Order: sequence, then C-alpha cells, then structure tokens
Amino acid sequence: MQSRREFLKMSAAGGALLVLPRPALALARSAAAPEPFQVPLRIPRVLAPVRSEGDRDYFETTMRYARRRILPGKPTPVWSFDGSFPGPTIKVRRGREAVVRRINRLDVPVTVHLHGGKVPASSDGHPLDLIRPGGHKDYVYPNDQDAATLWYHDHTHHSTSRNNYMGLSGLYVIEDPADEELNLPAGDYDVPLVLQDRRFRRNGSLKFKDDHDDVLGSVFLVNGRPAPYLRVANRKYRFRILNASNSRGYELALDSGEPLVQIASDGGLLAAPAPAATLPLWTAERAEIVIDFSKYQVGTRVVLGDRQDPMDPASLVPLLAFDVDREEDDPSSLPMMFRPIQRLLTGTVERRFELSHNFDTQQWEINGKTFDPKRIDVKPRLGDTEVWTFNNLSSTTHPMHVHLVRFQVLDRDMLPPSPGEMGWKDTVRVGPSEVVRVAMTFEGFTGRYMFHCHNLAHEDHSMMGQMKVVA
Ligand code: C2O
Ligand code: CU
Ligand code: CU
Repeated sequence: MQSRREFLKMSAAGGALLVLPRPALALARSAAAPEPFQVPLRIPRVLAPVRSEGDRDYFETTMRYARRRILPGKPTPVWSFDGSFPGPTIKVRRGREAVVRRINRLDVPVTVHLHGGKVPASSDGHPLDLIRPGGHKDYVYPNDQDAATLWYHDHTHHSTSRNNYMGLSGLYVIEDPADEELNLPAGDYDVPLVLQDRRFRRNGSLKFKDDHDDVLGSVFLVNGRPAPYLRVANRKYRFRILNASNSRGYELALDSGEPLVQIASDGGLLAAPAPAATLPLWTAERAEIVIDFSKYQVGTRVVLGDRQDPMDPASLVPLLAFDVDREEDDPSSLPMMFRPIQRLLTGTVERRFELSHNFDTQQWEINGKTFDPKRIDVKPRLGDTEVWTFNNLSSTTHPMHVHLVRFQVLDRDMLPPSPGEMGWKDTVRVGPSEVVRVAMTFEGFTGRYMFHCHNLAHEDHSMMGQMKVVA
C-alpha cells in the first residue's frame, strides 16, 4: 500500500495513463504480471555451516551472477548469494557466534550488512567498507541478542537500491532454545515469506531504474516467485514476513476477513499476540504472524494480499494463496502471553530529525543534510537511553532505520502505537507529515554506524546519517 493520500495521488496518475501515450508505452515494454497462484511457494534453502568450533559456526557464501526462473518462460539474470534468489537463509542459535565469509565474484564492489544485528562496527557493512571483486570478507556476528528474524543485504554507497533489486539479500534467523517452551509452530510449520516487487523486461531480465523517488514493480514476488500458492494443513503456522522491497510498503490482509495475529516484530516476540484487521509493513520491517487454518474447511483457499486502499477490502492485490488441502493434528500452541517487555519511557538525551525533500537537488535530507561519509552526525554514549523524534516534513513515508540498536516506538503523532508496534523495532514507518518518537539504549559496541531511511531509493539519494557510539 501507499498511504491513503499517496494512493489517491496514484489513482489520479493511473487515470492519466489512459490519455498519456508515453507511460503507457513504457508499461507495454515491461513483462505483464503472470496470473496469480500458478507456481508453488519455494522456501529458501538453509545454509549449513562449513565448520563449527566450540561456540562458533563458520559460514561461507559467494556472490555471483546466476539465472533463475521467476516468470514463466525466460530465465532472469540475477545477482545472487550462491545462485539463490533470495539468498540462502542463515539460521543461528543465540549465544553461538557466527563468522560469515562473503566472497565477491561479481564485477562490482559490494558490502553486506546484517540488518537488526548487534554486531561490532567492523562487521556492520559500512557503505564504504567494500569487498572488491575477487575479494572476500569475514563478518563476525556475536548473536548475543533475542531470537528474531533478521536479514542480510547489500549496503554499498549509492548502489544499495540496484544491488538489492538485483538480488543481494537473504534471511538471517536467530533462534533461542529458551523459546521452545512456548511451543509455537516450528519446523515445516515455521515458514519465511520474503516480499519483493519487481519490474521485468519482456526478455525476462530485471528492469531497474535508479530513481530518487520510489523503485516500484508491478510483479509481486514471495520468496522470489510471482504470487505463489502454498498447500497447508488445517492447523497453526508461523510465518516470518520480511518486506525486502526497495520502496513499497504493504498493508497486509487476508481475503477471509480474519484478523492477522502478529506475534513478533523486527526485534523478536511481542509481549502478547496482537490481532489486527490489516498489518502495515514498510521496507525492511519484519512481522511474524500465526494463522490458524483449522478455522477453514479442507479445500478452502485463503489469500494473503496487499490492500491498495487500507480502508477498502476489495482493493486487495494477491501476494500468496494458502490452499488448505489436508487434516493434521496440531501439537503446537499460541500462548496468550509471551514474555513481558519492559517499556522504555524516557531518555537522558533527546534528538530531533527533520525529514524533507530538497526540490532543487532532488535529494532527500535529514536535518537539511545529505549523507556525507566524512561527517559524524550524532555521538550517542554507550549505556545512554536516547529519544529520537522523526518529524516528516514531506508527503511520502520514510521507514527510518537505526543500526546496532533496537528501539521502542513511544508515540506516533502523540498517540500510543498500535499493539503490533509495542515490541522491539529497528525500522519504523514515519508517514507523511507524521511525528514519530522512538527510544533506544545504546549497548554492545562503540564505533561508527548508520541511520537512514530504508526506502532504498531515498537511502541512495541520500537520506542517511552516521553516528559514532562512544564510551
Ligand atoms: Cu537494512 Cu542500513 O540497513
Ligand atoms: Cu541495518
Ligand atoms: Cu525515505
């Protein structure tokens, strides 16, 4: 979805397409989205460690060119981790350190960031800490944090949008053996869903345009396949949803009218399940949900989609169909409560960030500045709790992300956040003209980290700042 305001603006533009020949022509040159539910959902492969020593596991992936069958017909050239699109899932256990070797067999320099990871600055994938073509880098991830669905992705200076669009991202899941007692759906019933939208040429290749505004596609992919289907048993499933789109925000909903029951956000489990009619998910945000298919007859198809107009159930664009095709016992449970989350209420340092568009330069700015790798914008002190206010002066949504820390949303236009936003976050949507306050405690490491808008078009052009965490 876009915001309602943006939606109305877009509908007006859509109407204009009928009379203006040029955009219509551009559309004709793109491959049309295939009919939904023609192909099964694929689950990204889980990467096995190459070796383990004591409390440490070693992984290795190679970034290389590959061809993947995404649309019916012609294969699509992608930039991949190990030939996969999205990349293979890295699964780790809390408390076991992971050393991930990233080998670059592409012709361009790249850097890999672990989004949501509490990692040393040297392993954070700074936009200029590049792996040359032919080179490699070992990233060290302590995994000393709550179980959560994280993701790794390219973070190259001014090329993050292109590199992610071409395929350089994948999931990184931290599991905590202590969570097993919650008895949530696990194993085959714990399914990752990576949402991406893309535009394709008729020859099957990805059509990327480096835009400062939005990079949007007309084909909706889940785990790299266009609007697929998944056969499910009539029991509970856990879905880990990541919005890995470049610019698109989604307003997720079921066509059955049942609420989506959210159990986790970016940084891990909520204090309690949070049902909601629709679930907004902006770029880089994660939401985990539990769907109980025992409510449905075998033979039912339930569709998860994106509401183009948040208020209108009929505006659902299909993303994924669940086909309830069998009966099965369900030994899993959905507890009424998980673990309490201590709310952060105040901070000792307050900072304000004005988010705006510069119409002269076509750049996006934070406090009137574009990204400068030589400038440090803020210097938080280790151990301090800070309150950051994001004030959006523009007419588009900015999903604001802070590296290293996890934060809590204090309020949105002075109102308390929705239950689904009451847990740990690392990315928060700041809607047009909205003021959103978040609180975070700086823990773990000192050094240089980024904060930025995660609409990758905005990030590249140049809505990003640097913080230096000091002792
Ligand atoms: Cu997904 Cu700078 O991050
Ligand atoms: Cu990040
Ligand atoms: Cu933005």
